[in-house]
Amino acid sequence: MAEQPKQTAKSNKGATVFGVTSGKGGVGKTSLSVNIACEFSRRGYRTIIVDTDLGLANTHIVAGMKPTRTLSDYLDGKCPLADIIETGPCKVKFISGGNGVKEMANLDDAGRARIVQAVHDVKPHCDVVILDTGAGVAKGVTDFVQASDHALVVTTSNFAAIADAYGIIKVIVQDGYKNPIHAIVNRVRSPEEAEQVFMKLKGCTERFLGFDLNWLGLLPEDNSVEGAVLKRMPFSEAFPGSVAARYLAKLVTGLERYVSAVPKPVPQGAKS
Ligand SMILES: Nc1ncnc2c1ncn2[C@@H]1O[C@H](COP(=O)(O)OP(=O)(O)OP(=O)(O)O)[C@@H](O)[C@H]1O
Ligand SMILES: [Mg+2]
Repeated sequence: MAEQPKQTAKSNKGATVFGVTSGKGGVGKTSLSVNIACEFSRRGYRTIIVDTDLGLANTHIVAGMKPTRTLSDYLDGKCPLADIIETGPCKVKFISGGNGVKEMANLDDAGRARIVQAVHDVKPHCDVVILDTGAGVAKGVTDFVQASDHALVVTTSNFAAIADAYGIIKVIVQDGYKNPIHAIVNRVRSPEEAEQVFMKLKGCTERFLGFDLNWLGLLPEDNSVEGAVLKRMPFSEAFPGSVAARYLAKLVTGLERYVSAVPKPVPQGAKS
């Protein structure tokens, strides 16, 4: 097993950054990012999502938001960082990446470094930061994974998705990523299917990279995920009793141990 961070007494020492990524596109990063953020927030953690899928950012759609300002405005110097932070569902704070903005998709090293700096700048004000990245192995993805304390690599059981998940792990490890990497297997029909996918991926990372991949968990194929997008709500809010919401809670319980902050007590029956 990969070396796990030591369990220490919890203290408010600034946020833990989780970078949600994948090799292949369309495997569920954004759905997971938004709902993981909501679940952390429901548990009393001050949570922010930064949409770093530059140029094709769509986290706001899954979150049911209409952001008025984006990272693009911040980079252009039109407003300070604080002015692009909006509040979304479940009181999650939110920074949008800008959709259909060609300049963002082609952002240079300096531009990406400013976004990484922005992530560091918001850390003292929250407990959990979720970076929803794009797919692939380009710098526009890997720079943000490198900025995270934990990388969450999402795959489905699709063979190409597994191969591409290996590809992104290979690139970030060879670029010197030393923090834990966790796998999430999405859209599975059974826990056994998820386990088989994970074992394949883990086998490859151990054998070819000498890297120990962690198991985080699975999300089943569930119509409520897509149904919630149509309602423009996170599935865990629209369908809290769904199977997907139940597995999501398990995923977040698995992540909670890496968060050093103490959550604020959530009043019984509190609504988001
Ligand atoms: N567990 C699931 N069950 C059913 N549908 C799902 C599940 N997870 C994701 N989906 C659907 O898969 C599609 C892709 O999901 P999503 O946009 O979250 O993927 P992504 O990895 O962020 O894509 P991209 O690489 O384009 O950013 C969406 O239509 C979403 O509703
Ligand atoms: Mg996405």
